[in-house]
Amino acid sequence: MELSSIRQNFPILGQKINACDLVYLDNAATTQKPIAVINALSDYYSHNNANIHRGVHTLSRRATDLFEQARKTTAQHFGVANEQQIVFTSGTTDSINMVAQGLSKLYLKPGDEIILSMLEHHSNILPWQLWAEENGGHLKVIPLLADHSLDYSAFEKLISPKTKLIAITHVSNTLGLVTDVEKIKSVANRHNIPWLLDGAQSAPHMPVNLSVLNPDFFVCSAHKMYGPTGCGILYLNERWLSELPIAKTGGGTIKTVSFEKTEYVEGALRFEPGTPNIADVIAFAEALKYMDAIGMQQIFKHESELVQYAQTLMKEIPEIDMYGIHDHKAGVISFNVKNQHPFDVGTLLDKYGIALRTGHHCTQPLMKHLGVQGTIRISFAIYNSKQEIDYFIEKLKKVIKMLS
Ligand code: ALA
Repeated sequence: MELSSIRQNFPILGQKINACDLVYLDNAATTQKPIAVINALSDYYSHNNANIHRGVHTLSRRATDLFEQARKTTAQHFGVANEQQIVFTSGTTDSINMVAQGLSKLYLKPGDEIILSMLEHHSNILPWQLWAEENGGHLKVIPLLADHSLDYSAFEKLISPKTKLIAITHVSNTLGLVTDVEKIKSVANRHNIPWLLDGAQSAPHMPVNLSVLNPDFFVCSAHKMYGPTGCGILYLNERWLSELPIAKTGGGTIKTVSFEKTEYVEGALRFEPGTPNIADVIAFAEALKYMDAIGMQQIFKHESELVQYAQTLMKEIPEIDMYGIHDHKAGVISFNVKNQHPFDVGTLLDKYGIALRTGHHCTQPLMKHLGVQGTIRISFAIYNSKQEIDYFIEKLKKVIKMLS
């Protein structure tokens, strides 16, 4: 698909911000939505809305079919044969909390250890920290090398007989660095330790085949993948699909209920109490179809070219510091203008219609490691172009001059 046709699929991109063409470079925070996703929401509420798994009437059966079809589409997208392994949640944060709460009921014991990395987003730190604080557990952190990539040899040394889980980001939301999943997997398998892969920033940018990667848990959010907010997935491997204790319960998860005892259903529905986010799940499936029509390999290639192009131009600007420069990155560049607060730079760039994120990006431990309060982050999607990067560089140089 041509870039110009792709851009036409995203109505929001056609607008002016502060009298300038919108240049949207905040895709790691959330992507814009194609018309197919917007139409799916409108179509669902205009023609198909009903509660699911509960009614015999036509609308209810239609909505149920669409919802369960979305589960199949999602499973196919991620190379998963059994769609029951895809649980719909409200997003990455919800998914990780469900795993943490579930594991803490049965599997994690006082004194156990969980391995995370210095690159983690707060959402892959806090649920484990809460467990550790309440249960005398310990978090161990994989350090970074000088180039900010993970120190894999230090990683294996962190493993002890008390290590019960490795929970790691697939792609750093702040630096765009891609974790060598095969290394994590081989160490985890060698020591027989379950591992969770946080795919919030990988699933939007690269092919992710869960049958090949085969983690115990995988999580991601629809809204970073051209889908709606408030929706995401928790993938469970076969073991945890039957063994993970439920963190929340309610209608829709049960076979029979009496005041004495409840029997729960098996499969994904066991983890989806209450009326789920039906419309957004159905629209998320449209987002996945949209990405698959372009091709995840193609998306990765396009965004990698943008990263390389922008990194090369930015290296020429002496007034900026860049973090985590690397050849193999997924859609993200973090930098600072020397002696300037990121907010000031971000606010001035907004005057030229450029949307980017400034601050700690929910990675305060990483900020501390980098020795900064925050960074300026640009992040790409399939609709971004080299012309937009040229425009961004031109305005960045202008802003640097204004501030100096
Ligand atoms: N986690 C999102 C980000 O990195 C919000 O911006």
